Amino acid sequence: MHAQSVAVVTGASRGLGRETCRQLLGRGWAVALTARSLADAQAAAASLGAADRLLPLGLDVTDADQARAAAVAVAARFGRLDALVNNAGVILDDWDDSTTTTCDPEVVRATFDTNTLGALRASQAFLPLLLQGGGGNLVNVSSGMGSVSEMNGGMVAYRLSKAALNALTRILHDEHNARGLRANSVCPGWVKTDMGGPGATRQVQEGAAGIVWAATLGPGGPSGGFFRDGRPIAW
Ligand SMILES: NC(=O)c1ccc[n+]([C@@H]2O[C@H](COP(=O)([O-])OP(=O)(O)OC[C@H]3O[C@@H](n4cnc5c(N)ncnc54)[C@H](OP(=O)(O)O)[C@@H]3O)[C@@H](O)[C@H]2O)c1
Repeated sequence: MHAQSVAVVTGASRGLGRETCRQLLGRGWAVALTARSLADAQAAAASLGAADRLLPLGLDVTDADQARAAAVAVAARFGRLDALVNNAGVILDDWDDSTTTTCDPEVVRATFDTNTLGALRASQAFLPLLLQGGGGNLVNVSSGMGSVSEMNGGMVAYRLSKAALNALTRILHDEHNARGLRANSVCPGWVKTDMGGPGATRQVQEGAAGIVWAATLGPGGPSGGFFRDGRPIAW
């Protein structure tokens, strides 16, 4: 019998992260649902059912020690890892006024700490387990706002953090694809979550589907790409 696949999802207390967990559970995967606070992870896990295949964990991605502890917990519970979804993200820009003349560099720094360095910390912690079984999928949940070729002004901190996250995807791909890692960036589109707001064009289920696509790729699947709805988009 094929052993059960296992995913880790960061920032899964709500929004796209929690929905990604729900869809992976629906495919029969086991999931480590991680959230900045353990209580939020436990509450989100309780809302999804399937307790036998869910491991709620506290993981603030700005804390490398927590990332390493989470990796130890996943190894102890499941003994394998097939996908890491770096979903945790923040927008700290002033929505109405964050230009190169007005943005606070400290806000840029804080945004990078979660959106970019958070993904790096989680990748460093979980890669050994991911590569141990011959590879797997690493998904960086990015944004079209980080596309360099289609870059617009405003939202400086968020845009820079996602452009750098996309670069991290390429670096991870180059370093580890030969060992079986498929590393991809995914833009979920503009999604009705707390971040996207009620005016967004897409339901959370649609946005998460493109993340789940990348998290469940098999051997020979694409790597080193930037995707929306399973289709390549411009870097
Ligand atoms: N919604 C959109 O339209 C859209 C578009 C493009 C890309 N994205 C990306 O999609 C991802 C998910 O966004 P969303 O729309 O679901 O946003 P959301 O509803 O605001 O949820 C963000 C999640 O990230 C978590 N988070 C923030 N900082 C964290 C930290 N330091 N450690 C761990 N978790 C942390 C939040 O946890 P707490 O509950 O503890 O705050 C929350 O679970 C983000 O990377 C975002 O940039 C979203």
